Amino acid sequence: MGEKESSWLFNLIAPVYGLFYHKQKKHYAAIVERVKEQMDLSLFETIIDVGCGTGALCSVLNDRGMTVTGIDPAKKMLAIGMSKSENKDIRFLQGNVMKGLSFGDNSFDLAISSYVAHGLEANERKRLYAEMSRVARKYVIIHDYNKKRSFFTSLIEWLEGGDYFHFIKHAEMEMKDCLAEMSACFSEVSVVQVDVMANWYICKPMDYRDSENHLI
Ligand SMILES: C[S@@+](CC[C@H](N)C(=O)[O-])C[C@H]1O[C@@H](n2cnc3c(N)ncnc32)[C@H](O)[C@@H]1O
Repeated sequence: MGEKESSWLFNLIAPVYGLFYHKQKKHYAAIVERVKEQMDLSLFETIIDVGCGTGALCSVLNDRGMTVTGIDPAKKMLAIGMSKSENKDIRFLQGNVMKGLSFGDNSFDLAISSYVAHGLEANERKRLYAEMSRVARKYVIIHDYNKKRSFFTSLIEWLEGGDYFHFIKHAEMEMKDCLAEMSACFSEVSVVQVDVMANWYICKPMDYRDSENHLI
């Protein structure tokens, strides 16, 4: 889905998202607890949430003491996150990952993105992965659907017109292929089921090295 079309859609449905902010927050908080054994976020300090929407996940991470940046192109989604006093320490910025993230290499310990990848086209997903890999020092976490489908989700995703049906079949392979095809992507991908229909695709970014092979 193109940038304008997608922002238009998410600006339009932002008030509906807003209604589910607290429910989403509870849901993300439970997941962060559940995955602690495989990925303990409390071990890290800084994180960027790419396509943060109304900021429910940002808020959970902020509650756990992380320094959080959330970026999203849809102003009305961001406005909901910013309107909550509990989120006053979160840096919310309007931004489109397709145009590149306005941060230097290795700016954050972690980069996370929830339910963004499946809505992008395959070439856009590679751009998402490469940009997240560039700005993250330690891990990139893609929170998105797994292969398990429900009628309701399939209907919503069909109406939304994203790449859901392709994504759920090929997500892991695509992330692994991405490392073969693109020098600036991931060096490892592991998959943790975090909910009935969702996985965390935990990816190790490529190391950035200077001409003398020092880690930068
Ligand atoms: C399905 S919503 C998920 C929002 C939020 N991550 C959550 O879990 O509630 C997808 C979000 O991705 C954002 N998005 C779409 N294209 C994007 C892009 N190119 N760069 C950054 N964010 C994007 C949308 O504006 C929208 O807020």
